[in-house]
Amino acid sequence: MQKIRWGVLSTAKIARTKVIPAIQSSERGEVVAIASRRFDSAQAAARDLGIARAHDSYEALLADPAVDAIYNPLPNHLHVPWSIKALEAGKHVLCEKPIGLNSADLEQLLAAAAKRPELKLMEAFMYRFHPQWDSIKPWLAKDLGQVRLINAFFGYNNRNADDIRNLPDIGGGGLMDIGCYGISLARLVYGCEPQRVIASLRPLPGYQVDCLATAMLEFPEGIATFTASTKTEPTQWAEIHGEAGLMRLEKPFNPEPGQDAKVHLQLSGAHQSHNFCEGNQYQLMADAFAKSIQDNTPVPTPLSDAQGNMRVLDALFASSRENRWIEINA
Ligand SMILES: NC(=O)c1ccc[n+]([C@@H]2O[C@H](COP(=O)([O-])OP(=O)(O)OC[C@H]3O[C@@H](n4cnc5c(N)ncnc54)[C@H](OP(=O)(O)O)[C@@H]3O)[C@@H](O)[C@H]2O)c1
Repeated sequence: MQKIRWGVLSTAKIARTKVIPAIQSSERGEVVAIASRRFDSAQAAARDLGIARAHDSYEALLADPAVDAIYNPLPNHLHVPWSIKALEAGKHVLCEKPIGLNSADLEQLLAAAAKRPELKLMEAFMYRFHPQWDSIKPWLAKDLGQVRLINAFFGYNNRNADDIRNLPDIGGGGLMDIGCYGISLARLVYGCEPQRVIASLRPLPGYQVDCLATAMLEFPEGIATFTASTKTEPTQWAEIHGEAGLMRLEKPFNPEPGQDAKVHLQLSGAHQSHNFCEGNQYQLMADAFAKSIQDNTPVPTPLSDAQGNMRVLDALFASSRENRWIEINA
């Protein structure tokens, strides 16, 4: 079967360091073109990464007839507009998280996608493709009992004032950048949408975006809390408390291929630990997306999931602004 030919919108760090190498080592895809606002950047990235064609504009990439699918790792405010343009150009789109700035933004993309039902569109929550989840899901279903509490943390220390994460006008801030993972994980584990949410979103001195985002999500059967912190020591974890056991993931979100990703299970007082150090979640995501194109089957993470996550993001921003619980109307 012919490989899916990918084009990459920009020379974003995540593309250069993770996703392009992952596609290049995938079974079902190859990267054939990359574009940048600056031609010399596109040329340098193409040369360094062994990509055949460099384009001097995003428009030129979308007009490239030898590109089947676009990977969109632009800053958050450009996810929707350039994903729409890519769909209009007849390309499948894998778009970085969060897929839009808010639900109204996302609705525009969904309308464009509805006009091209033959094209695939997916939000790139890569963590769900890490092999640890293949094991966790049956443990959740069979061993842990009814989940009553999820507690997660994701943090790094980024004080670069020019970084897209620290710029308020282009969709920066910790909640958008990494808080979206805490929401996604909680919705995945409970398997439904929260009923109401509350958040504290704090900028720190010198920054105009939230640097410390703490949220509580009430689900029908339990609670999820998470903190996304962008100005403290980098670390992450997730604890899932069920009525019959406790699961602790040391690297729930972005385990590095080849490095430890331990999951600890405590069932009736007995402990077991599992280490999932094999598997590249970016490669697995790219292959799963490519397979859905090749087989013309639904994408593994449906757009309804992206809508659900975005609704919660909207509600958490509203909660912080209005200083109250916000009901989620699914
Ligand atoms: N899934 C993951 O593991 C993961 C990890 C990190 C980031 N991400 C997501 O990926 C996206 C990119 O993150 P990143 O850290 O790779 O960003 P980045 O290195 O800053 O790259 C963003 C790229 O967008 C292009 N761009 C176009 N307009 C821009 C503007 N107004 N300001 C800045 N850049 C602009 C630039 O490329 P050109 O100059 O080449 O045009 C720039 O290199 C974000 O949405 C982020 O949430 C995902």
